[in-house]
Order: sequence, then structure tokens, then C-alpha cells
Amino acid sequence: MDKVSKAARTVPVKVTVNGEPWEGEVRCEETLLGFLRDRLGLKGTKRSCESQVCGACTVLVDGLAVSSCSYLAWEARDKQVQTIEGLACGGKLDPVQEAFVKHSAVQCGYCTPGMIMMVKALLMENPHPSREEIRNWLNGSICRCGTYVAVEQAILDVAGATE
Ligand code: FES
Ligand code: FES
Repeated sequence: MDKVSKAARTVPVKVTVNGEPWEGEVRCEETLLGFLRDRLGLKGTKRSCESQVCGACTVLVDGLAVSSCSYLAWEARDKQVQTIEGLACGGKLDPVQEAFVKHSAVQCGYCTPGMIMMVKALLMENPHPSREEIRNWLNGSICRCGTYVAVEQAILDVAGATE
């Protein structure tokens, strides 16, 4: 490929991922999911439906939950991206991760990173969600192992709910 056509197919991007700055060229069609997994080696974000249905690929971009399979890498330009790898701090799990462990809200674990990032977004927007609000929020997060009830309990616990 000559220089001109190559240049036309890539976009310069500066992005911060889990607090680490990254700068370089991304392909126009490169998804954020592919960028995170294949370029940065952050395999915690899972690839499943690749059509914005299952929630397995959820990450936070400037604090908002996005399906990284359907979000182009260049769209994250100048933004802060957080993945499951960025949650634990100083060797200590995030409180949501702790709650998932405590309530056995993980079975095979495939959906878990996306589910936890969805929960982080929920609690930033609504620190004390009701059970119904949790169900509505996680409507797009599919767990084939059926951990939904345990996930709800984990969220209610970390949110300090009394029910
Ligand atoms: S892999 Fe992105 S929503 Fe399913
Ligand atoms: S824990 Fe297996 S898909 Fe959710």
C-alpha cells in the first residue's frame, strides 16, 4: 500500500486507557474492542455478539458505558477509557468486584467484565439503585450462566441497600 492510501485509511489518535496515555495511528474501521484487545493486549474486555446486543464488550469512555464492539477506536480520541483491568487499585479489588466475589455473581466469567463495567456506570449515575432500576439497566447484559439474581444482590450490597 502506498503512503497516500495508507494515510487515508488511518487516523491519528491520542487516548488515555486506564490512566496510561497512548498515541498513534488507528485504522478507520478499527473498533475500540479490537484496539483494546489486539493492540493493547487488554483481553479482559470480551468479544461475543459484536453487534451491540450482549454487553460482554462494555467499557467506560469518559465515564459512560459503551459497547466497544460497535464503537470505533478513533471515536475515543482525547477521551479517557477504562476497562476491567483499570479497576483494581494497589492490588485491591474495586468494591464492585469484591461484591461479585462475595455473592458468587461469577460462574464461567465471560460476561463478568462487561457486566461489572455496566455496574460501575450505573452506580456513577445512580448510587442507590432499586432492584427494578438494576434490572432495567442491565437489560443489555446477557449472562448465559444465569447469574442475574446474584448480580442484583451484589449491586444492592455495594450500593448499601437495606433490602
Ligand atoms: S460483543 Fe459487543 S455487545 Fe456483544
Ligand atoms: S458468568 Fe458465564 S456468561 Fe455470565
